[in-house]
Amino acid sequence: MSRIATTKMSGLLLGRLNTRFVSSAKPSSLLEFRYFSTSDLGSGTGKKEERAAQPPSTAAAGGEKAIVSYWGVDPPQLTKEDGSPWRWNCFRPWETYKADTSIDVKKHHEPVNFMDKFAYWTVQTLKYPTYMFFQRRHMCHAMLLETVAAVPGMVGGMLLHFKSLRRFEHSGGWIKALLEEAENERMHLMTFVEISKPKWYERALVLAVQGVFFNAYFVAYLASPKLAHRITGYLEEEAVNSYTDFLHDLENGNFENVPAPAIAIDYWRLPPESTLKDVVTVIRADEAHHRDLNHFASDIQCQGRELKEYPAPIGYH
Ligand SMILES: [Fe+2]
Ligand SMILES: [Fe+2]
Repeated sequence: MSRIATTKMSGLLLGRLNTRFVSSAKPSSLLEFRYFSTSDLGSGTGKKEERAAQPPSTAAAGGEKAIVSYWGVDPPQLTKEDGSPWRWNCFRPWETYKADTSIDVKKHHEPVNFMDKFAYWTVQTLKYPTYMFFQRRHMCHAMLLETVAAVPGMVGGMLLHFKSLRRFEHSGGWIKALLEEAENERMHLMTFVEISKPKWYERALVLAVQGVFFNAYFVAYLASPKLAHRITGYLEEEAVNSYTDFLHDLENGNFENVPAPAIAIDYWRLPPESTLKDVVTVIRADEAHHRDLNHFASDIQCQGRELKEYPAPIGYH
């Protein structure tokens, strides 16, 4: 390549970099809210967060290196329906929904065969020590429950993904449905974390439980997906019961019905004046839908069919 051609290419590249920097140097509403959380509402924010939330130009002026995307992946400028800036990076406006709370909280799959009974008693065995440990500390109980509940969807989705690759076949949408379930459960956790911060021993407990549960569920799903989905179905039944107890204590005044965190208001499109009771109600509805989805997945396979033969209920939460 001649020297003239090399000089021209360098000039073009530098020009492109400069253009990127100038466009990114504009104040970005998304970046301003990058580290915004409910705990910041109405209270002073930490120095570190304020600095991190600066637009790139201001951060650069303060002596910090600006983040400029050479790769053209600048964050999109998102707004809410009312035109105000979208404050969450962990989920986007099109992932929000209004929960269908018309659920049957008593719905139960009666264990009929050995596999059902094994799944049912596995969950019952795990349930009692958990209830004894947490008793009426609903917030801690809910947080641990959600760290466990977000595992099966991810494991199932991952294993179906690999199965699809190995067999060169479609999944019927079940990969997406299960990963959606995992994400939905994680959003439950992110909501509770806005209200209550876990203590160090609760974090340690989560670490231990996750290590054991992930591996156990992974092996169970490899060995028998229908058993794994049945276990999750029963786990979700218990999640519904647990949130029903939580709601009773909120109604009786045994637990303070604090205002709903902003993340929950945006994720479930709740009215601004919503409270924790409204949040627990929509989360319970999600759990009921997970219960139905997993028992349905197990039923399909118990009848000798494959999941891919039935279109997955995507967005069913
Ligand atoms: Fe959940
Ligand atoms: Fe769930």
